[in-house]
Amino acid sequence: MAIHPILKMGDPRLLRVAEPVTAFGTPELRQLVQDMFDTMHAAQGAGLAAPQIGVNLQLVIFGFQRNARYPQAEPVPPTVLINPQITVLDDLANPGLEEGWEGCLSVPGLRGKVPRHRAIHYRGWDAEGQPFEREARDFHARVVQHECDHLIGRLYPTRMTDMTQFGFTSVLFPDMDVAEDD
Ligand code: NI
Repeated sequence: MAIHPILKMGDPRLLRVAEPVTAFGTPELRQLVQDMFDTMHAAQGAGLAAPQIGVNLQLVIFGFQRNARYPQAEPVPPTVLINPQITVLDDLANPGLEEGWEGCLSVPGLRGKVPRHRAIHYRGWDAEGQPFEREARDFHARVVQHECDHLIGRLYPTRMTDMTQFGFTSVLFPDMDVAEDD
């Protein structure tokens, strides 16, 4: 079990474009994925991108049954997503972007309302090099868009359009059962 320090906003390593993973099923990649899950779980996160622990690879993980940081969220299966590609799915009943609250382990203690596509298709590879694809909606789609943004050096505040909807978690959600510095 190896829990890594999570880089915080202001660190230039969070602003890089990540490199594709080229070697799958290696002991090094398996260890990295395990360390990322250990780190995410220790921080009660819903997702984590490799650049957040200083590894500049196109690798994100996410998933939870129930998450204290996002108590209203539907479960998302534990997922390793490498070299991802996202396609927006037009939702005729609910077109355009939808605002929703996000936090980030690299932006501790804060939340902001971020516009995201409500429905997406994503595909990529798992750690063993097996390709897979999924459709996702709502919070699942939001998490994937948030995590994949880390791979192009984007943190959620840079996606916000209304900075009045940005604040401290402890003030915005005083009843939430999360650590003050999450
Ligand atoms: Ni994040």
